[in-house]
Amino acid sequence: MIQSDNANYKNQTPLGFMLSHLRKHWLSLTAGFLVLVAVNGIQLIIPRIIQHILDVIADETFTAVTVTRSALTIFGLAFLMLILRFFWRYLIVRPSRIVEQSMRNSMFEKLLKLSSSYFNKTKVGDLMALFINDLNAIRMATGMALIGLFDAIFLSTMSLLFMLSISPELTMYTVLPLPLIIFIFIKTSKTIQNRYTDVQRAFDSISSHTQESLSGIRVIKGFVQEKMERDRLYAACDSYVDKNIRLVKIWGILFPSITMLASSSLVLLICIGSSFVMNNKLTIGQFVSFTFYINLMVWPMIATGWVFNLLQKGIASSKRVLELLNTMSDVSGTDVKPDSAQINGEIEFRNCTFRYTSDSRDVLRSVSFKIPQGGSLGIIGRPGSGKTTLASLLCHVYKVEKGQVFIDNTDINDIPLSSLRMSISYVPQDSFLFSDTIAANIGFSRDGAIDRDEIERVAKIACVHDDIMELTDGYATKIGERGITLSGGQKQRIAIARALLADSSILILDDSLSAVDPVTESKIKMNLKPEIKKKTSLIIAHRVSTIRDCDQIIVLSDGQIAEHGTHDQLVGKNGFYARLYELQSMQEES
Ligand SMILES: Nc1ncnc2c1ncn2[C@@H]1O[C@H](COP(=O)(O)OP(=O)(O)OP(=O)(O)O)[C@@H](O)[C@H]1O
Ligand SMILES: [Mg+2]
Repeated sequence: MIQSDNANYKNQTPLGFMLSHLRKHWLSLTAGFLVLVAVNGIQLIIPRIIQHILDVIADETFTAVTVTRSALTIFGLAFLMLILRFFWRYLIVRPSRIVEQSMRNSMFEKLLKLSSSYFNKTKVGDLMALFINDLNAIRMATGMALIGLFDAIFLSTMSLLFMLSISPELTMYTVLPLPLIIFIFIKTSKTIQNRYTDVQRAFDSISSHTQESLSGIRVIKGFVQEKMERDRLYAACDSYVDKNIRLVKIWGILFPSITMLASSSLVLLICIGSSFVMNNKLTIGQFVSFTFYINLMVWPMIATGWVFNLLQKGIASSKRVLELLNTMSDVSGTDVKPDSAQINGEIEFRNCTFRYTSDSRDVLRSVSFKIPQGGSLGIIGRPGSGKTTLASLLCHVYKVEKGQVFIDNTDINDIPLSSLRMSISYVPQDSFLFSDTIAANIGFSRDGAIDRDEIERVAKIACVHDDIMELTDGYATKIGERGITLSGGQKQRIAIARALLADSSILILDDSLSAVDPVTESKIKMNLKPEIKKKTSLIIAHRVSTIRDCDQIIVLSDGQIAEHGTHDQLVGKNGFYARLYELQSMQEES
């Protein structure tokens, strides 16, 4: 497996970034370019042989043997080129594939380290485009573009030397239009790069729209919004086509201009070269081989247009990849080996105030509470009151100010992220299940070392074992993306089982029993009792019945703790909790 490096890319230019990845393959690249030199050398010799044949024909000194020998030599060289071309492709293109893979690994590792704030701001579709389109452009730039560039420099220079050796005077005339080609490239470079970046952005938009539409396809159909979604996607596609046409337009002018300039070299050769032949300054063989050399020089130069295009795209894409790699996570983590034994699970929030962005309002305000090790806290409150936010802060998903959240009397900022997260089993409000078997989903925290008995044990606690056994493949049943073949309640209970399997000292259930009926809920609660006793637990709920047995309960209201106490104390207070309890008890009775 190719390892990605975790180097700091802060001071790297996009081109330097690509080159630094290529440098690791210098041996393969050097060998590849040597083979390429050999192929180019053969290409350069062939016109010489043709020149020789033509000259001996013109001299009438040719014999069947000399011509046959020359023809066989050309055939032999062509065959040798065939073999050598395989090797240079292999030796030069392979590193570009490895560069692509290594960058992909670095990018993925980076994504795994970034905090939730980044994913709140970034669309999945944009990231998909980065992983597919941009890496593809970088691969082309570090592979085919390099070959093209080398060919352009080597073949052009060598051809020029051969031309000079035939006739310096004729060479002077015929290369006159060529500096103009280089001038045009330099002049248009920035515009091409900008237009290509626009194309990539437009592609991001298509990718995001497609991804969102597919993820939300059931909602779209449910609200009969197919037309609106189609129009949105068509608009993104139109913009993509427009941006591409802008890019094509500039190439449409550039390519023919360069081809025309290159052709004018041939025109000069025909006009001036033919007079040289007539004046015996040049043999017919030299004239013909000169034509070959001019082609060998001009075509790589024309191809520089294509090379240039690939390089520009590669640089623009490399810049985008660097942007991702240089993104700083606002939650600092360390790579310290996780050690869950270090964390016992005493939790304290001290005057915790939190807002998601600097310009938004406070979502939590001066929240203070303490849960001793092995204790349980129930959290209840209206939607949007800050319950999930509170749980996220405990998992250090968002940046927490120093001196606000403590675990085992240690500031959460001083606990290595990996240790912290290893000590917390978190069942989020919207559980995500992977497109894998049910067993793999439950055993997710065990890195594939899944003990079937253990899995069944936790599935039984979460009251989902019987449901699983009813499926044709039982625990081996594959679930589709987001577990679409399962009901909401089944998904919730699988997520609970998954959390129970993790060997952690803190358990957070965020509204995790909302989709199960009251009978199953009380069964799960009964089953969970011994588990909860072993861990410090935070149970977020909308139903009083879910949290009434907790050691302490807080009622969150607009980010503040409005009520705090045991179930009995809160019922006695005649506040929000008591009213909610009364209302829900009446509903359950009816
Ligand atoms: N990622 C986020 N970025 C910005 N604001 C957010 C984000 N997540 C939540 N909020 C806001 O923070 C407030 C509290 O949200 P939170 O999800 O904590 O509420 P909750 O009590 O869990 O609600 P519910 O009972 O519906 O789950 C809401 O006003 C919400 O709009
Ligand atoms: Mg919530």
